[in-house]
Amino acid sequence: MLIPIDKIMKDAIETLMNEHRLIEQVLGALDTFVEQLFTPVPEDRRQVGQFAWFFRHFADHCHHGKEEKELFVQMNRCGFPMEYGPLGVMLAEHGEGREHVGALAEIGRGTGPLSLPEREAVAEHARALIPLLRAHIQKEDNILYPMARQGIPPAEIARLNESCEVFDREVMGAGEIQRLKALASELLVNFPPDAEKMAVVTGCAGCRGH
Ligand SMILES: [Fe+2]
Repeated sequence: MLIPIDKIMKDAIETLMNEHRLIEQVLGALDTFVEQLFTPVPEDRRQVGQFAWFFRHFADHCHHGKEEKELFVQMNRCGFPMEYGPLGVMLAEHGEGREHVGALAEIGRGTGPLSLPEREAVAEHARALIPLLRAHIQKEDNILYPMARQGIPPAEIARLNESCEVFDREVMGAGEIQRLKALASELLVNFPPDAEKMAVVTGCAGCRGH
């Protein structure tokens, strides 16, 4: 018997990896934004706020939310400690990222043109956040997620797939995720990531031209 299409579970780890690809793209857009930051334009405070909104709500609430409330909890039940080791490191890096995003959000909430100290603060926090999240994503893709696939029994993986879908549907809401993806598209159009840099940072130098 065929399984109805709406009953087919998405693979949670695959969804998390797809979210990494979008976050990497927006990090590339943030990099482009920072390159232009010392040529002031009237809209730049609003743009700082938009980047902060994406990283707070998509990268943190939606993506880190599923990791911290679902994946890491499941890994912990399978014997991975939360306080140290891979999960401890990932949690500490989430916290570090939140501080940079919080600083960007606060500047985004201000009024009037960005002052020079604010521009310097945006550049400082963005230049710390970009390499932090890029390296974090590489660690999860190449080390943590393969560990999860190995360490979590198949029945629990199925439960994780379901709980991550519930998280997206009930905690985030499909409409909100779509709005955040639309915001990402707008940022990518306004601040196209540098293709050469992206190929290097995503470890895909050999993929260019294919
Ligand atoms: Fe992640």
